[in-house]
Amino acid sequence: MASEPLEGRVALVTGSSRGIGRAIALKLASLGAKVVVTYRRRREEALEVVKKIEEMGSEAISVQVDMGLPEQVERLAGQALEAMGRVDILVNNAGVGYAQPFHRARVDLLIREINVDLVGSIILTRALIPGMLERGWGRIINVTSTAGIQGGFFLVGYSSAKAGLIGFTKALAAEVADTGVTVNAVAPGFVATRLGLSYFYWLEEVLGIKNAREGYLRSVPPHRFVTVDEVAEVVAFLARPEASGINGEVIVVDAGAILAPGYPPEAVDVIRNRRGSGSSGASPRRT
Ligand SMILES: NC(=O)c1ccc[n+]([C@@H]2O[C@H](COP(=O)([O-])OP(=O)(O)OC[C@H]3O[C@@H](n4cnc5c(N)ncnc54)[C@H](OP(=O)(O)O)[C@@H]3O)[C@@H](O)[C@H]2O)c1
Repeated sequence: MASEPLEGRVALVTGSSRGIGRAIALKLASLGAKVVVTYRRRREEALEVVKKIEEMGSEAISVQVDMGLPEQVERLAGQALEAMGRVDILVNNAGVGYAQPFHRARVDLLIREINVDLVGSIILTRALIPGMLERGWGRIINVTSTAGIQGGFFLVGYSSAKAGLIGFTKALAAEVADTGVTVNAVAPGFVATRLGLSYFYWLEEVLGIKNAREGYLRSVPPHRFVTVDEVAEVVAFLARPEASGINGEVIVVDAGAILAPGYPPEAVDVIRNRRGSGSSGASPRRT
């Protein structure tokens, strides 16, 4: 029987007790990887992910960590190596985001976003990359965001951290380009997880913007959120041995939401409903 593509590999997925990280952990396990599941507070959810992976016939452990605290990040790396012997695939996925208008932003929350989303990922990668380099094979996949590419409204700290992850991805990718280790980033658009939905909740409940979620969905070409599984598929692809030629890339997974910015919802509706004036809907020729 052909072996699974990630058989014999060990993956560490930060923030895999729920949301996107959970889907990534399960996907990597389905391809044969052993998985280190991490969580910050939700131990029960993390244990449930471990159980699911074991039911799939693979191995997993769960480790508690606050990615915003360097000493805990170092401890996570040590615990993972001690329990699994190696980490071949590192997915820096754990993240926090606090929507707030910048001119009255809480500085501690800005710092927290940078520490958890960016600094924690850099420290963990620093701790785990020597083993990958020694073995001549590794995959580092950073979960950034379209907010790190185009900026997000009221998300200055979050966008800064996510843009930083892109710089980190590219600089490190160049440094290890001839080693068998690749470093890439995946940039999801909005996903209906606790983190994604909290943004719209904040717009509606705190800023009093009515139907913010519906308004967003109406204004973007795909008229939908992407799913956790759509993001996990791309991460899993990058983790595969066959993806060895992709290095330093940022792959956007948003179904096209950041395309055509500034288009009025009505214009997008024309495409959605395949409506047009006249037979073709083409604009009249100017003479
Ligand atoms: N959802 C979106 O719309 C969206 C869009 C673009 C990018 N992203 C990125 O995708 C990643 C996953 O987001 P998500 O939507 O799946 O979020 P989520 O549902 O809120 O899950 C966050 C995960 O990270 C863990 N976590 C939170 N704070 C942590 C900390 N300080 N230290 C360690 N772990 C921590 C959580 O653990 P507990 O369960 O124990 O709290 C949980 O496992 C994030 O990097 C996010 O920025 C999300």
